[in-house]
Amino acid sequence: MDKETRIKLAVQKSGRLTDPSVDLLARCGLKLSRGKDQLMGYGENMPFDVLFVRDDDIPDLVQEDVCDLGLVGLNVLEEKRLELAARGSPARFEALRTLDFGRCRLSLAVPVEHAYDGPQSLHGKRIATTYPHLLGVFLQQRRIDAEIVILSGAVEIAPRLGRADAICDLVSTGSTLQANHLREVETVLESHAVLIRTPVPLSTEKNEWVERLLLRVEGVQQVKESKYIMLHAPRSALPAIRRLLPGSESPTIIPLEGSPDRVAVHAVCRENVFWETLESLKKAGASALLVLPVEKMLA
Ligand code: PRP
Ligand code: ZN
Repeated sequence: MDKETRIKLAVQKSGRLTDPSVDLLARCGLKLSRGKDQLMGYGENMPFDVLFVRDDDIPDLVQEDVCDLGLVGLNVLEEKRLELAARGSPARFEALRTLDFGRCRLSLAVPVEHAYDGPQSLHGKRIATTYPHLLGVFLQQRRIDAEIVILSGAVEIAPRLGRADAICDLVSTGSTLQANHLREVETVLESHAVLIRTPVPLSTEKNEWVERLLLRVEGVQQVKESKYIMLHAPRSALPAIRRLLPGSESPTIIPLEGSPDRVAVHAVCRENVFWETLESLKKAGASALLVLPVEKMLA
């Protein structure tokens, strides 16, 4: 019975997506209790169970319907898609949402002391990677004939070990490349986290919870930059003030008791509100300015 009603969600066990994934779920209201083995989190207040697994396993777990949902990097997803296509079987996982974390890029890098003069410099070179399919397509599209050295990890030390002339690996801060005297020269793929789902239709109950989760995810992503701004202003200054409010739709205008030509303006700004904006608002006639963080939002 439990199998029918609880949603299994796969999350990276340890890596760049782990903390932001757990954080996103917490902001969506999910209270997780983690067992002793730490491999499974049980949702106490929502019917979600979180499985902590290797990120490379997430696409398969989801397309084989072992898990209903997965949070995974586009890099892993696209590599898997190409790998499946090469075997003649299309990917069956479905992307539900692009998420605003886990940003990184799959890039080509060469030893700093090596000359690099465009992708053609890679002709006849050996390139080490754990992403042979994505790299393969990149090279093919540019008609570059290079040897792909497939490794399972520690790609960044391959040039020093004499196993490759260049690498194709994930870069976020760039510190791994720097530490290994490598220079980023081409971007193969811009990546971010993605929420994926099983190809198998979900029960009505599960579907409702997935829809709820999606709405909450949207709310969480929206509030990150959002601010609630309150101010007083003369009615005549309203057009100017509305133009100055960054990313706000229709503000609420409230008359002020005892001063008919003055109003209070309340608005949600979907962008950060900087000091410069407040200063301009003040110049336009606003006073009693207050900017508050937004905790939750439901459209
Ligand atoms: C990647 C990559 C580098 C590091 C780069 O590994 O292989 O080691 O991140 O990040 P930096 O530019 O901030 O130094 P990752 O942690 O994603 O592990 P995985 O590829 O095994 O999932
Ligand atoms: Zn991995």
